[in-house]
Amino acid sequence: MADRKLGDPIARDPDHRNDDHRDDLTAQSVSIVIDGHQLHASPGETLLEAARRVGVVIPTLCHDDRLKPTGACRMCLVESSDNRRMVPACRHPVADGLEVVTDSARVQRHRRSLLSLYAADAPDGILPGTELDAHVLRYGLEPTLPQAEAPRAGRPDDDNRYILFQPDRCILCARCTRYCDEVEAVAAITLAQRGSQTTIATVDNVSLLDSTCELCGGCIDTCPTGALVERKAADRQEDFGDLEPVRTTCNYCGVGCQFDLQVDRAENKVVRVTSPAPGLTTNDGNLCVKGRFAYGFIGHPERLTEPLIRDKSGQLVATDWDTALQRAADLLTGVRDRHGKDSLGFISSSRCTNEENYLVQKLARAAFGTNNCHQCAAT
Ligand code: SF4
Ligand code: SF4
Ligand code: FES
Repeated sequence: MADRKLGDPIARDPDHRNDDHRDDLTAQSVSIVIDGHQLHASPGETLLEAARRVGVVIPTLCHDDRLKPTGACRMCLVESSDNRRMVPACRHPVADGLEVVTDSARVQRHRRSLLSLYAADAPDGILPGTELDAHVLRYGLEPTLPQAEAPRAGRPDDDNRYILFQPDRCILCARCTRYCDEVEAVAAITLAQRGSQTTIATVDNVSLLDSTCELCGGCIDTCPTGALVERKAADRQEDFGDLEPVRTTCNYCGVGCQFDLQVDRAENKVVRVTSPAPGLTTNDGNLCVKGRFAYGFIGHPERLTEPLIRDKSGQLVATDWDTALQRAADLLTGVRDRHGKDSLGFISSSRCTNEENYLVQKLARAAFGTNNCHQCAAT
């Protein structure tokens, strides 16, 4: 998995489609041509989905495979034989006999002028490393437009420690609000105001902490411009160049979400957590508040880093794993020998993985011969 920096483009799994579309698929297929590739597509598929299957790249901004397409940003416009205007590939359905061109001079010209409009609306410039920045680097800006005023309001009183909204970077793609509604089912944030003043707000513009927000951070993850960022990340002045991603399994519960610890090797410190791209792991690009933000314990000075056993005076002293495990085994077998196997009980946790829970009951039954084992999720 490539290193994902602040708002990096998400490498989508081309076969991962949103469920509403999957439901619409029928056994019938239609024949279309995309950039000279003849292919069969299923009714209900979009041009974007069909194009991805033959390796044709169409740039997107408001699209996220987990969300219903809205066609808000116009980044994905392509030429299609069923319409004299260009159509948004992310929501235009395939139809039999369609001929689609995704890289004509007209399409390229549209991309450059659209990106110029977005750039003109970004008083602080386009944030490097974001999806929007990647499109600018790939397609260019033309014409060069004067900088527009920044009429969008932020939430200056939002004192939450985790999520920062920078309205001048917002392109109103609504990925954040749709994610919050469609994936998180929370709808803590919404599009508010009208026209150029449209912005991302909470009810009465209260702090996220006073809203229904669950601080899952999914809005940060899906934002293509860095308008929504992790506050701690912003505190680093967006310096993420040298971070090394380390893929691991979250240990806060037994779901098994995968995430990438972003490690600053110079400081030997985890400075962020990001989710793998949707469609690749069990959590489909999603994380909860603990998985995404509660990583401070990893480098906490009071964290136990080696096993402890009690010495003769009852004081805890550091030891190696072999010694600690042998001590535990001796004490457990001592209790069993003195009081019988059913004097022992083994309690596991739903925060452990399936495999760990399996091993605990195996230890109880096979090693100590008792069925006295329990786990909180069993009640
Ligand atoms: S953190 Fe999660 S719940 Fe809160 S606004 Fe963002 S997407 Fe919604
Ligand atoms: S905050 Fe980001 S995801 Fe939300 S509308 Fe603005 S640009 Fe899109
Ligand atoms: S990605 Fe198609 S309109 Fe935004």
